[in-house]
Amino acid sequence: LENGLSRTPVMGFNNWNSTHCRAEFNEAMVKGIADLFVSRGLKDAGYQYVNIDDCWAEPQRASDGNLVPNRTRFPNGIKAVADYVHSKGLKFGIYTSAGTVTCDGQGFPGGLNHEEQDARLFASWGVDYLKYDNCGDHQGQSAQQRYTKMRDALAATGRPIVFSICEWGSNQPWTWAQPVGNSWRTTGDISDNWGSMLDIFKRNVGLAPYSQRGAWNDPDMLEVGNGGMTDVEYRSHFTLWSMMNSPLLIGADLRKVGQSTFDVLTNRDVIALDQDTLGIQAGEISNAGGRHVLAKPLENGDVGVALFNESGSAQTISTTATAAGLGNATSYRLRDLWSKVETTTSGAISASVPAHGTVVYRVSRQGTFATPAAGTTQVSDLT
Ligand code: DGJ
Repeated sequence: LENGLSRTPVMGFNNWNSTHCRAEFNEAMVKGIADLFVSRGLKDAGYQYVNIDDCWAEPQRASDGNLVPNRTRFPNGIKAVADYVHSKGLKFGIYTSAGTVTCDGQGFPGGLNHEEQDARLFASWGVDYLKYDNCGDHQGQSAQQRYTKMRDALAATGRPIVFSICEWGSNQPWTWAQPVGNSWRTTGDISDNWGSMLDIFKRNVGLAPYSQRGAWNDPDMLEVGNGGMTDVEYRSHFTLWSMMNSPLLIGADLRKVGQSTFDVLTNRDVIALDQDTLGIQAGEISNAGGRHVLAKPLENGDVGVALFNESGSAQTISTTATAAGLGNATSYRLRDLWSKVETTTSGAISASVPAHGTVVYRVSRQGTFATPAAGTTQVSDLT
């Protein structure tokens, strides 16, 4: 969506993966996350949006039709929370659904047929981001109609509000949503386990051609730190999401995680892949027996190359600089973005990758640039 926002994928937090609608989703949590964004270096690493999900509202609208913040979770209202988040130099996001009700069984009010009133209310609270879900009755309106209405309602407020389409890939949003939203979910919900993460990766990786600056594929929020995967698996999750230009929304309650979670989430070399201003989602250049090779052209002419081992045993995964679109230099520098070790190669790119692990390099051309042979893949071809 050309609204000037999310020129790189959004980075931030959303409570859903860690709390669902449990009572610990409340004002104290949101403020605590904002505090940690500042004190633990997440803000400095680029995380900006502190977003709330379903169950923030009372089950009934007020007599004037306005949504009402849940009186137990948010006794001071939403504007007070947004003001607090803004006071930390951060941005605040909210949630509703493109149907009559949201997804929670209690049936909180949805935004369908209330688009303008709800958008105006959100803008008056200082909302900077809206996640628009797909639950409730759609009253016969197509996804494209429902999401376009809310896009227009947000624009009419005059406030810059990132618009996140959450219709779970049900209506192939990658084919129509570039002018409608800043991102669109491509799959159902992620869960905090290896199988779910792997399945979503496989569904999202092939959608690379549809992603562009300001309009990103969204394979759902991060599970890093929630405890259901190993550190190796969480590093793969974070690396793959970054290679795929995914929104990086932290899904763990940062008040409860250990140092290893912060170490993954603040790896600036990996974040730089996600936030690269060229905005090209990695393409999968090979996948033999679960040995995945992804290549991502970068703004300065480097290429990110990820070697991802889907299998349950260590594997050697190999490719070449030529296959990755870098085939016109006499040598290359490889920077391993997790170990930080730098090596030089004349073209082979290879590593022993642990089970479920990912080795990711930033590959730079160095030495003499030979004239590329006709038919050789060029960086510009990998779009
Ligand atoms: C479905 C969405 O896909 C989830 O991310 C979350 O927002 C829930 N709905 C909330 O009910």
